[in-house]
Amino acid sequence: MTQQSSEQIIEAQRQDWNRVAGGWEKWDRFFDENMTFLNHRLVADARLRTGQHVLDLGSGTGYPALLAAQAVGPQGSVIGIDLAEAMLTAAGRKAKTLGLTNVTFRTGDVTTLPFGAGSFDAVISRFCLMFLPEIPKALGEITRVLKPGGYLAAAVWASPDKNPYLRISIDVIKQLIELPPPDPEAPGIFRLAKPGDLPAIAQQAGLLPLADEEVTAEVVFLSARDYYTSLMDLAAPIQNLLATLSASQKSEAEHRIIQAAGSYQRGAGIALPMTVRFVTARKPI
Ligand SMILES: C[S@@+](CC[C@H](N)C(=O)[O-])C[C@H]1O[C@@H](n2cnc3c(N)ncnc32)[C@H](O)[C@@H]1O
Repeated sequence: MTQQSSEQIIEAQRQDWNRVAGGWEKWDRFFDENMTFLNHRLVADARLRTGQHVLDLGSGTGYPALLAAQAVGPQGSVIGIDLAEAMLTAAGRKAKTLGLTNVTFRTGDVTTLPFGAGSFDAVISRFCLMFLPEIPKALGEITRVLKPGGYLAAAVWASPDKNPYLRISIDVIKQLIELPPPDPEAPGIFRLAKPGDLPAIAQQAGLLPLADEEVTAEVVFLSARDYYTSLMDLAAPIQNLLATLSASQKSEAEHRIIQAAGSYQRGAGIALPMTVRFVTARKPI
């Protein structure tokens, strides 16, 4: 398989996430209900205080930028940056609904940040860094734009075995077609899953690693079909895998994914375990 250049990976990311932006808006309330604690954790890890200036990388539809804007208050500010304009349009709408005037969203690439040195008290990011073709370069940029003593707080996915929420569909696709063995260096959902990986890259970029912790929780769907629908609506990387199946393989995949999710029935819902890695680092004072 020919290797994609960084530019090609970034362009593919932009198209992928723009394509699913409508789905993210549709499922917004559901994700807010299931994953708000992740935003609170990032706000706490970054030690956000009133009046601070914060950058959110790969903000998407506004997580965790919107909570950070509430945390820093009107004297502070938050900028959310993302490749996908359609995701940011949704984020802007949410900021307006919440009456937040101290958060702005702008398109851009995390690996070439359009900000001066020492612009931010903190950099936060939820589920973005593993999709970058040049993670060390991005960490260099984060280090540059942080003020001395500023914090980086990032959430990335932990390994597939601890993430049935994400793994179920990938396992089913693997039963139906042969996928190339995953390149551990290639950008993707689990690229930063290994303990110590992201802290080591942060350290090489000049940050002091402070914490690297896995947190397990559950995403609760009303039904196994709802889980499948959510994948179809918003999981861009999984959609790309499903797109390689024939029509009959696709309907078999749908059947098997719903069946597999059904085995996580608890009470009236489907409780799918997920595990998130939280990494914190600080720029030396
Ligand atoms: C899984 S979504 C996460 C969105 C949001 N942070 C959340 O947790 O809901 C990943 C986001 O990262 C963005 N992204 C991927 N590569 C990027 C890059 N090089 N620069 C900026 N944003 C990027 C995508 O456009 C997408 O909106």
